[in-house]
Amino acid sequence: MNRHERSVASPHVVNIEDLRRRAKRRLPKAVFDYLDGGAEAETTLRENCRAFEAVTFRPRNAISVPNCDLRTQVLGAELSFPAIIAPVGYSRLMHPDGECAAARAAGKAGTAYCLSTISGHSLEDVRAASPGPVWYQLYLVGGRAAAEAALERARKAGFSVLAVTVDTGTAGMRERDIRSGTAQLMSGNPLAMLPFLPQILTRPGWLAAFLMDGGLHALPNIVLPGKGPMALINVAAALAESVVTWQDFKWLREVWPGPIIVKGVLTGDDARRSIDIGAAGVIVSNHGGRQLDGVSPTLRVLPEIVRAVNSQIEILMDGGIRRGSDIAKAICMGARAVLVGRAYAYGLAVAGEAGVSRAIAILRADFERTMKLLGCASVSELDRTYVEAPKDWLISG
Ligand code: GLV
Repeated sequence: MNRHERSVASPHVVNIEDLRRRAKRRLPKAVFDYLDGGAEAETTLRENCRAFEAVTFRPRNAISVPNCDLRTQVLGAELSFPAIIAPVGYSRLMHPDGECAAARAAGKAGTAYCLSTISGHSLEDVRAASPGPVWYQLYLVGGRAAAEAALERARKAGFSVLAVTVDTGTAGMRERDIRSGTAQLMSGNPLAMLPFLPQILTRPGWLAAFLMDGGLHALPNIVLPGKGPMALINVAAALAESVVTWQDFKWLREVWPGPIIVKGVLTGDDARRSIDIGAAGVIVSNHGGRQLDGVSPTLRVLPEIVRAVNSQIEILMDGGIRRGSDIAKAICMGARAVLVGRAYAYGLAVAGEAGVSRAIAILRADFERTMKLLGCASVSELDRTYVEAPKDWLISG
């Protein structure tokens, strides 16, 4: 066990916030703020978490639940518990093992990993790293030809589900990234990085690992025809080029034979459109509060989506999950499973695979304990009767 693995195994790490604090100490500010921050005033980022506090539990007490069945079927695959490891762009900047470490930890824990288009490891290596299901998240950065090539590779490698992100009409205004020099760091230009050097030099552990990993890498899953892998660009530039429209889904259905899920649905209307274009599911998501600030927290809009979908396709959600009890609340409110992003990425930043495994173990233990305290023996039995939500949550849509 190395120093970092010991750090995440410490008895002082009891929740995700403990991993977050350690990640903050290990990463340069530009990388930590990229991971931790949201758009504009970060209202949606905060509200995503706060919405879970507005939902309270209604336990069934005096019931013994010695064993809980946490297994859940999602898009044809059985997961050991209802939390999927979400796409996080530039994970290799957080830790050299990046996406491979996250996929391996997810697979070992019996759950799925969703790889971002903007990743530092090749999708073939990520597939090989995980013994479990792997999904591919698509941005159209690089254009349709680059996307088609990536999807063909993903299909051949054995990725089972395509998640198409639809909330990137342009990049969100991430004010922390601008102040901290995230774009300058990703530019690879030493002159541009100069003003931000002190924050890098005060993180020697991260810097040594980053340099040993060969510094910044091109994006191996965005291969431009005739040109090769796209050079690393900063996230604002990448997302500004990433817009996907409803018209693109006809083409996507032709080039991707497996299930497609629409990531970034926040209204009943968009949920119905997702059904119309043939999606197998939706992810109720506001991109972790990183795109349009001021949209509702995802838990708040879940009832509207549940009503619109009317059991026709699967509903997943992400945003604000920091505890296993949050997972239970999301399931009670109608999600089949959740995706977690920052919660595991903090662990990844601290200790690679061991850190992701620790984050998953915390969430899983929390979730199981919550089920027992609710007096509920199976995930399939979690429903609205176990929670009390604000009355006005059901009115819109
Ligand atoms: C990438 O998807 C990001 O939100 O930074």
